[in-house]
Formats: sequence, structure tokens, C-alpha cells
Amino acid sequence: MKLSVPARTSRRLAACAVVAVTGLLASVAPSAGAAPAPAAAPGVLAAPDIPLANVKAHLTQFGSIASANGGNRAHGRAGYKASLDYVKGKLDAAGFTTTVQQFTSSGATGYNLIADWPGGDPNSVLMAGSHLDSVSAGAGINDNGSGSAGVLETALAVSRAQLKPTKHLRFAWWGAEELGLVGSKYYVNNLPSAERSKLYGYMNFDMIGSPNPGYFVYDDDPTIEKTFKDYFTGLNVPTEIETEGDGRSDHAPFKNVGIPVGGLFTGADYTKTAAQAQKWGGTAGQPFDRCYHSSCDNTSNINDTALDRNSDAIAHAVWTLGTEASIPPGDVYENTADVTIPDNGAAVTSSISVTGRTGNAPATLKVGVDIKHTWRGDLVIDLLAPDGTAYRLKNSSGNDSADDVVATYTVNASSEPGNGTWKLRVQDVAAQDTGYINSWKLTF
Ligand code: TRP
Ligand code: ZN
Ligand code: CA
Repeated sequence: MKLSVPARTSRRLAACAVVAVTGLLASVAPSAGAAPAPAAAPGVLAAPDIPLANVKAHLTQFGSIASANGGNRAHGRAGYKASLDYVKGKLDAAGFTTTVQQFTSSGATGYNLIADWPGGDPNSVLMAGSHLDSVSAGAGINDNGSGSAGVLETALAVSRAQLKPTKHLRFAWWGAEELGLVGSKYYVNNLPSAERSKLYGYMNFDMIGSPNPGYFVYDDDPTIEKTFKDYFTGLNVPTEIETEGDGRSDHAPFKNVGIPVGGLFTGADYTKTAAQAQKWGGTAGQPFDRCYHSSCDNTSNINDTALDRNSDAIAHAVWTLGTEASIPPGDVYENTADVTIPDNGAAVTSSISVTGRTGNAPATLKVGVDIKHTWRGDLVIDLLAPDGTAYRLKNSSGNDSADDVVATYTVNASSEPGNGTWKLRVQDVAAQDTGYINSWKLTF
């Protein structure tokens, strides 16, 4: 059975119409997906310069907090809570609505700090976050006082500007990242699905002042990625895609439930190559951060230029993405009927019939896929246009050892007429693990 639902073009009506028909919009709200590129959007406000001295003053405080508390700011230790109280005090004084979220890990209480800037569209929330805990070996000034201070100073700049963003802005400092992303996982797991669907995106900043820095941009949501890359292009600083362990920081829990993510990173224990030293300076053959997870990760373990550029880049992204005109939601067509995918068998399809449109499909046709499966590496997924043209969304992979596929793919379908029967084609190409298409949707 097929359910295809053209939604309305107004945000409020779209939400009502689709909830009424499918009951599934919580996971597919217009604001949840990656937005079209905002580069030329008029009315976007320019970010202020983030004063390096202010960011460094926060690092000095984190250093003092560690010194006064046994040399670290680790989960379950006094230095962690003191760090949280410091950040919270600044945010409260600046007019943020702060929330401390408690959790337990390894027998100790942990804390996340969430700070909401009043105003903006509550249905389109832009988040920026960083982990505030250190390892127990040291003060954790680059890892991750740097991201914590850069996000804090950006939030304080929002307050100084008394910014009136179009999106709702939310900042977060995570506990117990070093124990396995514990705080951010707890936050995402405890966010009701209706709240999850309001998240436009999450930007993560974990290590942004490495002493022998690289300039790495996460290669996830294309809009967020482009926003950061544009900033560094403007500085004439080349960037590379972040590859030092995908999923090794607090963006992973967001990404795993289909929330668009992005972020910045200046490198941890990997070695800077000669080519990288050529383009960024610094020392080839040495780690980006030789004090990663050690006692020497103190206030001397920071490259000021990297910290300055990355802090300004955080503000650039918050201002650019947070103040762009809301993008009107596209028309949504969805099929929520379950289709079993045979194990190591023939391809199956699920159809959506699109009618009443004029012209071709967009260059940014969004294909939202929700497949339940016990090993997604088995799956090959294509979008089939009405004339049968296949657009590969995902290949199989022996290494992709996770379950379900919950993702939104962007397809340039501008050479295809919009009207007709579109299909999602899924094939399981390896034995043992199985699953089904739970639902999928097209957003024009
Ligand atoms: N999250 C790691 C830590 O806190 C650091 C790290 C390693 C990292 N690889 C990364 C952060 C890639 C972001 C991206 O120790
Ligand atoms: Zn870290
Ligand atoms: Ca299989």
C-alpha cells in the first residue's frame, strides 16, 4: 500500500497536514533536514570578531580550576563541576536560560550544561557544543578547554550583540566525553523525538587550538561544511576533511539519529605530514598535539592563531546559519508502508507517486530514508527516477558495522521531470543480517 502525501508550503500548515496523515513528521519536519546553501541569502548578519584575549582568559580559568582541583577537570572529579559552574555563571549573567542535566557514568554523577538564547524559531534550532571534561592525566586545555572556550565566547558575543536570530540558538557543554561520548549520548537519547526533529543542526568543537595545528572541517552536512569552508577560504587558509576517527566526538550521537552535523578540529595524536606542514606551517613528522591526553596539555599547549581563527569560524557559522531567512519547507511526499528486504537477495522497491507538479525536480531533491536493519553495511540503496534513472544513495561496505539507515541524501534530480512514480530500491547483498524499509520520503 502506498501513502503519498503532498504537504503544504507554509511551515505551520505543513506540520499539521503531515502529522495528521502520517503521524511521522516528528522525524521528518521541514527544519530537520539540511537546508539549501545559504551563501547568497540576503539579510544574513556578519559575525563580530571573537576576541582571542577573551577566549584565552577562559583557558586561564580552566587551568586554575585544574590546579586547584588535583590537576584535572575529569568526569567525577571536582575540577569538572568547577568548570561547569564557571561557564554557567558567565552564561547566566549574559541572559541565557541555562539547564544542568545530570547523568551517572562509572559510578559518578556527570553533568551537561545547556544554554538557550531566548528567541528565534523554536521549530528550527541551531546547536553548537563542545565537551567540557578533560582526561584525568591533565588539565585538558586544548582537549577540550579550547572548544569549550570558543563556544562560550561565541555565546557571550551573541549576548553582547543582543542578537535576534531567525533560528533558535542553543549552546551545550558535554560531560564525560572522554568516557565514550556519555553526556552527549545521554542528551540525544533523552530528547523527545518531537524536540529532535526541531534541530536544524549540531556543530561540534573538540580541540581547536592544537599546538601544531591543522585546519580540519567535518565532512557531514553540506550546508554546515560549506559555511566553515567559506570562512577559511576568506582567510586564505586551506582546509582538509576531518578523518582522524569519524565518530570520535560528541557529534556522533546526533549524526546517528539523522540530525545534520558539522564541526572543526585542529588535530590530536596523528602526525602532520610534510604536505600539511607546507600548507599550514608547523612541524612535519610531529603530532598535531604532542600533549594529547597527557599532563602537558596545559595553557602552553595552544596555538593562538589556530584558536583565534577557529573561534571566529564558530561565530561565523552561528551568525550565518542562525540569522538566515527561514527556508520555506518544500513539498513532502512520503511512503510509510513497510517493505521487507530479503537477506542476500533480490532488490526490493517502495514507490511514491508524485503528481500535480510543474517542471523538473530540484537540484537539491532530499531523499529521507528510514531503514531498520541489523547491519547496514549489507545494503545498496538507489533512488529511481520515474524514467528508471538510478541515483546511488549508498553502497554496501564490509566496514559499515552499524545498524539502521536513518539519513537524508541530497540528489541533483534537475534533469528529471518531477511528476511520475519515484522508487527507493534497496538490495541486501550479504548473508545473515536482515531488515525492512520502514518509510522514506521525497522533499521537493
Ligand atoms: N574526541 C577525542 C578526545 O576528546 C579527540 C579526537 C580524536 C577527535 N579524533 C577526533 C575530535 C576527530 C574530533 C574529531 O580525546
Ligand atoms: Zn576531546
Ligand atoms: Ca544480509
